[in-house]
Amino acid sequence: MKQIEVVTPILIVKYDELSVDDCRLVNAARKATANAYAPYSKFSVGAAVALSNGEIIIGSNQENVAYPSGMCAERVACFYAHSRFPDAKFQAIAIAAQDGNGNEVKQPISPCGSCRQALLEYEKLAEDDIKVLLVGAVEIYMLQSVKSLLPLAFAL
Ligand code: THU
Repeated sequence: MKQIEVVTPILIVKYDELSVDDCRLVNAARKATANAYAPYSKFSVGAAVALSNGEIIIGSNQENVAYPSGMCAERVACFYAHSRFPDAKFQAIAIAAQDGNGNEVKQPISPCGSCRQALLEYEKLAEDDIKVLLVGAVEIYMLQSVKSLLPLAFAL
């Protein structure tokens, strides 16, 4: 019998250790939480995607009374980014969140399975890694690529 291990390398950094570009992206994700429409969960998520053309596209979670009809912040941002700038490559995504009291989450949140799958599609399209920044109040988790968030992903 053989066994393989799947490893997800995560660099834990503080805001003031980030590059100027990463700070900009984290700021945009934090700001985007204010645009969440989350009357049911009261949990506001903001995502910001950095594109190769220099644009930063933001998204926030958009809920619906019919719960499954809502959409996560990450996919709102990704789908808009690629529909607005179909020729630009995704370079990085930052994801921030606030609880119902308006406090930033202490522990960074991580994208749901469907968002990981969607992000992986854009990583494949870019033919390069998309950096992932998961933003907590103090610590930021930095992952070099979406692949490490979705090991053994389906591929054709
Ligand atoms: N949500 C996101 O927008 N992104 C995630 O990564 C996890 C969850 C949203 C969905 C729902 O509106 C709320 O957070 C609570 O699950």
